[in-house]
Amino acid sequence: MKYCQLRSGQTLVIREAEKEDASRIIDYINTVGKETDNLTFGEGGFGITVDKEGEFIEGISKSDNQLMICAFKEDTLVGQLVFTGGSRPRIKHAGEFGVTVLKEYWGKGVGSELISYLMGWAKETQIVRKINLRVRSDNHSAISLYKKFGFVSDGTITREFVINGKFYDSIHMGMEID
Ligand SMILES: CC(C)(COP(=O)(O)OP(=O)(O)OC[C@H]1O[C@@H](n2cnc3c(N)ncnc32)[C@H](O)[C@@H]1OP(=O)(O)O)[C@@H](O)C(=O)NCCC(=O)NCCS
Repeated sequence: MKYCQLRSGQTLVIREAEKEDASRIIDYINTVGKETDNLTFGEGGFGITVDKEGEFIEGISKSDNQLMICAFKEDTLVGQLVFTGGSRPRIKHAGEFGVTVLKEYWGKGVGSELISYLMGWAKETQIVRKINLRVRSDNHSAISLYKKFGFVSDGTITREFVINGKFYDSIHMGMEID
């Protein structure tokens, strides 16, 4: 658990997700899916049940190269980050993360706090040596955020997203952890 002070002076609590959070995480996913077209899912989330989400969270918390963290402002879930490391020996050191923040809280430093938590955790694991992410090539604010942390482009993948019949490229970005 980590307490952070946002620029506004508000306190944010970041902690690892627990199985009991499954239901509110699904509500959160459904909300953020409606608020942006920059994610791999839209309105309606990605159709996971509370039980499956609970199992997913449990699997992550038992794993040594996966992380799901939630950011709370008082009792409201305002941001989330999920990092999934490889499951086989030769790719266990690398993984990809996704981060979201409730629209009402954009630009207040929540995303930055989640990413710094991830980086601190990754160093502590002594397992994770590469953090990857994918971002829509026109998601300029997210790209600036990642660059601010030192992520660099590993290349562009064409047609990675399709939204309402239109294709979008993505940039794969990464950071080596030593
Ligand atoms: C991307 C996202 C996670 C960022 O979270 P956030 O809490 O708004 O980010 P922060 O307030 O910590 O980040 C601020 C940084 O982002 C960048 N940024 C934010 N808004 C920006 C804008 N409008 N233009 C340019 N850069 C911007 C800046 O680098 C800024 O750093 P600074 O505050 O030091 O100037 C959040 O906007 C979000 O959930 N967006 C929708 C989903 C999404 O795009 N997820 C990422 C998918 S790859």
